Amino acid sequence: MNRQVVERTARYVRDELFDDASGHDWWHVDRVRKLALALGRNEGADLYIVELAALLHDISDYKLNGGDHERGAHVANHWLISLGETQVCADAVSDIVIRVSFKGAGVKTEMRTVEGEVVQDADRLDAIGAIGIARAFAYGGYAGEPMHEPSASPQYHETLEEYMTRSGGTIAHFYEKLFLLKDRMNTESARVIALRRHMVMERFVEEFLREWEAVDVAGEAGVVPDREP
Ligand code: ADP
Ligand code: NI
Repeated sequence: MNRQVVERTARYVRDELFDDASGHDWWHVDRVRKLALALGRNEGADLYIVELAALLHDISDYKLNGGDHERGAHVANHWLISLGETQVCADAVSDIVIRVSFKGAGVKTEMRTVEGEVVQDADRLDAIGAIGIARAFAYGGYAGEPMHEPSASPQYHETLEEYMTRSGGTIAHFYEKLFLLKDRMNTESARVIALRRHMVMERFVEEFLREWEAVDVAGEAGVVPDREP
């Protein structure tokens, strides 16, 4: 455990991600770090590995670097070695970085260590709830996606390729990823937090679709009367 390595890593990540507008900014990383440490304490995880992996988990996200989903792990590994960390520590962290991301509903991303489990849970908790809603629309805007595309039905993606080339609007993303996360938590303490955040999103999407259909204008039938020409 070397506090200086943690502090230098935090500074490096903050400099790299500070002006990101895709939902992968420094404050996302900072929230994931805090959540992961709290979950890690409950689970008896090695908090040094947890903190470094949380800090480095989005250092080069495949969605933002042209689709290279191994690059983040390489960058994290090199960074830690350059600070004089051991190969064992660098490998433990980079193994978490490569596995942490959601890659489509049908694509398995199993964690091999309890440290990985809590970092993945923390990252997933920050994708749901009120902040999750805000991040989804921030990402949708960044990626040039519509908020909602009523003609596109949500898809269950079997491969990373399918997931990456989707274009069904941000509301569909709730069905394709965000609503699935509460049942994919690794730890019990994350499951409890996820349940509350899940309900916030359900309520939001229900209201969004009500307003979209103008149910609140036209009554329960959900039909806006045609104007006379
Ligand atoms: P992770 O941190 O698990 O890698 P992602 O990088 O997949 O999470 O996503 C970062 C944020 O962007 C999340 O809040 C996620 O829900 C949102 N996001 C990812 N893909 C889309 C999409 N196609 N449309 C809207 N939001 C998305
Ligand atoms: Ni993340």
